[in-house]
This record gives sequence, C-alpha cells and structure tokens, in this order.
Amino acid sequence: NYFQAKFPRDERFSKLTGDDVNFFKGVLGPSGVITAEEDADGVASYNTDWMKKYKGNGSLVLRPKTTEQVSEILKYANERKLAIVPQGGNTGLVGGSVPVFDEVVLSTALMSHIEEFDDVSGVVTCQAGVVLGNLESFLHPKGYTVPLDLGAKGSCHIGGNVATNAGGLRLLRYGSLHGNVLGVEAVLADGTIIDCASTLRKDNTGYDIKQLFIGSEGTLGIITKVVLLTPPKPQAVNVAFFGLRTFEDVKKLFTRTKQELGEILSAFEFVDRGSIELVVKHSKTGARDPFGDAYPFYVLIETSGSSKEHDEEKLNTFLEKLLGEEDSLICDGTVAQQTSQIQSLWSLRESVPESLQREGAVYKYDISIPLNKFYEIVEIMRERIGDKGNVVGYGHIGDSNLHLNISSPKFDPEVYSLIEPYVYEYTSKQRGSVSAEHGIGVMKPHVLHCSKSHAAIQLMKNVKKAMDPNGILNPYKVLPTHEEEKIN
Ligand code: FAD
Ligand code: MLT
Ligand code: ZN
Repeated sequence: NYFQAKFPRDERFSKLTGDDVNFFKGVLGPSGVITAEEDADGVASYNTDWMKKYKGNGSLVLRPKTTEQVSEILKYANERKLAIVPQGGNTGLVGGSVPVFDEVVLSTALMSHIEEFDDVSGVVTCQAGVVLGNLESFLHPKGYTVPLDLGAKGSCHIGGNVATNAGGLRLLRYGSLHGNVLGVEAVLADGTIIDCASTLRKDNTGYDIKQLFIGSEGTLGIITKVVLLTPPKPQAVNVAFFGLRTFEDVKKLFTRTKQELGEILSAFEFVDRGSIELVVKHSKTGARDPFGDAYPFYVLIETSGSSKEHDEEKLNTFLEKLLGEEDSLICDGTVAQQTSQIQSLWSLRESVPESLQREGAVYKYDISIPLNKFYEIVEIMRERIGDKGNVVGYGHIGDSNLHLNISSPKFDPEVYSLIEPYVYEYTSKQRGSVSAEHGIGVMKPHVLHCSKSHAAIQLMKNVKKAMDPNGILNPYKVLPTHEEEKIN
C-alpha cells in the first residue's frame, strides 16, 4: 500500500503485553475491550479508515463509557508508554483516526449519552461519542438543530467533529466550531481531567483552553464531553439548483446571492460537471441531472428562514430575475418545493465523495484558496493528468474551500507524482491552506510548512510537549518529524 508510513515505528513506545490487556479488561470489563486474538474482524474495522487508504496494525480496541475510565486508561498508558489513537466515527479523510503501526485504539462509540439540554438557551451537553445525526434527531422535536452538517453525519461523532474542527455544508450560516462550542471536557495524556465544559457564552477568564482541543486531531487530549450552542431549527428550508457556463459566473452568482438573499442564505455549494457525472453514474436511487442540458458548473443554494411563503417567494423572484436578465448569469435553474425534491438536489452534492470512492483510487485534496483562483487548479491538474485520471472539483464556495479530487482505476505512482508536491506548492503560492477542513492527520504533516511558519510549527511542538510529554497521543499525526523538517 503506497500510503503506508515511510518512516519507522517510534521505538520509544512499548509493545502491548497480556498484562496490559488484563489491566484494561479490569477497568472496562470484557465488553469494553476487543482484542485481535478474540475478534480479528472486529479489530480490523478499527484499523482501516473510511477511504480504505490507511491501514494500521493495532491489536487492541478500548471502548470506555465514562470520562473516569478514559482517565484510568491514559494514566496507565502514559506510565507504560503505550501509544493511543482516539477514534470517533472513523470518517476522517486524512488517516488520523487509525493506527499507523500497533497503537491502541480508544473508541468513543460507547460514550453516546446526551446529558443535558436547556431549551431556553439551546445549549446541549453530551458525551463525545454521540453521533452527529442522532444529536440532530434529538434536537429537532425540541425546535433546535445542530450548527454543522456533513455528508458523514450518520456515522461521525460530535467529539470527532470537534477534534477535527469539521466545517461542512452550513459553516457559511453558523460559523465554525471555534465559535459554537462553548465547552469541552478532555483528558490529558497523563490522565488529568480538564473540565472546561462551561455552558457560558462569555467567559474571559484567561486563556481559552478549550480552543486548543478544537482541531487538535487527538494529539493533545481525548475529548470526552462537548457543550454546544445550538441554533433554532429553521421553520422554512428552500433549495435552488443552478446550471452555469463559467466559473466567473459562479463567483458573480455568489455575490448576487449574498446581496439578494443574504439574511436567509444557509449554504452556497458547488459541483462541476465531472462531479455530477460521477453521482449519476454510481447512483443507486436513479439520481439524474435536473436539467435537460449538461452545464460545466452547478450551484446549490439553500435558504433557511422563518416563513416558507416569504422565503419561497424571495427565491422564486431571484430565479426569475436571473433568468430574465440579458446575458443571464445562469443557464437554467430550479427551486425545490417538497422535502423529497430538496433531498434529491442535496444528494447531487452530498453523494460526490461516495461516488468518487467507487471509481478506484482517489487522490483527495481539501484546500482553501482565494475565490479569484478557486477553479484554476482543477484546470491545471486536468492538463497535467491528461487521460491518466479523472479530475473533479466541488466544495464550499461560501468558505473558499475547494475539494480537488482525482481518481484513477487503481493507484498509479505516475499520477501521484504529477499531483504532489505540485498541488501543495501551488496552494502555498496563493497563500491558501493545505487543509481547509479535513485536518492534517498522517497525510499532511510533511506539508504543514506550506501553510504555517517555522515559528508557528515550533510553538505547536512546544504545546504538544507541555500537554503530552511522552508523545503517546496519536503519534505520527499532525506534527512533522525532525526528518521532514530537515527536508523542508
Ligand atoms: P474520526 O474519523 O474517528 O477521527 C478524526 C480525528 O479526530 C482523528 O485524528 C482522531 O484521532 C480524532 N478524534 C476523534 N474523536 C476524538 C476525541 N473524542 N478526542 C480527541 N480526538 C478525537 N469534514 C468536514 O470538515 N466537512 C465536510 O463536509 C465533511 N464531509 C464528509 C463527508 C463524508 C462522506 C465523509 C466520509 C467525511 C466527511 N468529512 C467532512 C470528514 C469527517 O467526517 C469529519 O472530519 C468528522 O468530523 C470526523 O468525525 P469522526 O467522529 O468520524 O472522527
Ligand atoms: C465534502 O464536502 O463533501 C466533504 O468534505 C468530503 C469530501 O471532501 O470529499
Ligand atoms: Zn467539505
């Protein structure tokens, strides 16, 4: 496997023994421990990521139910120098959630209790292992919703979302988790429980420690509890889908949409022709292009407001106005009226990652890039790759976040060498980010320097040392090794 680590196991870490397994069984009971010896298939699924691209060789999975159990596990692991990989729903896209070698997996699957909800403030407190979709189902009947939405919501955990600072489809409306997470409880590598599970919106009592855990990808502590500020569930949701001729027009449409639908706009998502073709090709539900003609670019606009008629009228008027204009920005457009139509349009966007997986090997790049250069890299890569692969672009225009994806029937080192390091160097030149929302994981520590200064990386390393002196938490992830730094 080409994506396997090209560096050796860190021999500072101990190898797991029978005594270790017995200790963990003592803490969690037999049902909280899965061993490769007793259940090889069970353990294998925790060693393989969603893309089936990264595979580890861990032989033990721990499934605690309480913060105290997480604390006991880490205290012991730290003393024994056993490396630990925190894992939520295992939907991460940079190989951060699975072992690289023989690390022990600590899964939050059984930490799935929603502890408290305040129906006046909308603040919810829950354990890290609550599945995002389940949290949404809990909140909806109460008139609230989650402030983030991802295609992976049926599997990803709120703890994993916080650990990756996941962005998703509605960041444009609700902002990032750095703003929506009011509190975090986490366990440090030595077992110390850090209770920053505040439910307050305002709390300027020195350093905002919880922010360190948001986006730290399991390298600084294990998140055990999350306090989230949830917004009211919108009364009215409408979706429109547009076909466009050029990317210039997509940008102009974004500006117009902000001006004319600003206060009800909740998503502005983009897919190119190649992405739609993949969705149609692999759809099991008969998904099809909503227009008779094929267009190079498509935009999905969602509005969320409090009055169905008002929002519907606003969106329809916007569509009519656009279509009626001379040199119209859009070639075609449709507004979904019913829930099933809304879902069909959303699935044209949300099914792109899964459709890509069915193509064979996928080379995935998640970059922030200024909108004036947003699509250029897709075109450059098409030139470079030629007929050796299929290059598609989709993503979150509202957040300047492009998902550049290239597929080939099977992994091809030549294709890979045409993509990397070119894509990262290009992104760096545009002062973009080599990871907009997926994180660094094991995929990108060697290119962290493309988006962060040497001094900032050194400070990250110092923070890591202070919080996890033995380096047992998610080793080989996020931070570059000395060797990688020497090369750069
Ligand atoms: P995992 O994959 O299990 O773990 C991710 C990282 O967080 C790992 O480094 C792991 O060690 C760490 N971690 C997990 N739980 C904890 C914890 N409790 N404490 C400390 N560290 C922890 N991402 C986006 O940002 N936007 C999207 O729109 C989006 N869409 C997606 C669509 C699909 C179909 C898929 C498969 C993935 C998508 N993702 C997206 C990526 C992924 O879903 C998110 O990163 C998600 O937040 C990961 O959550 P998880 O519970 O699956 O975490
Ligand atoms: C998305 O926006 O669909 C996700 O981030 C997943 C992906 O990039 O493939
Ligand atoms: Zn995304």
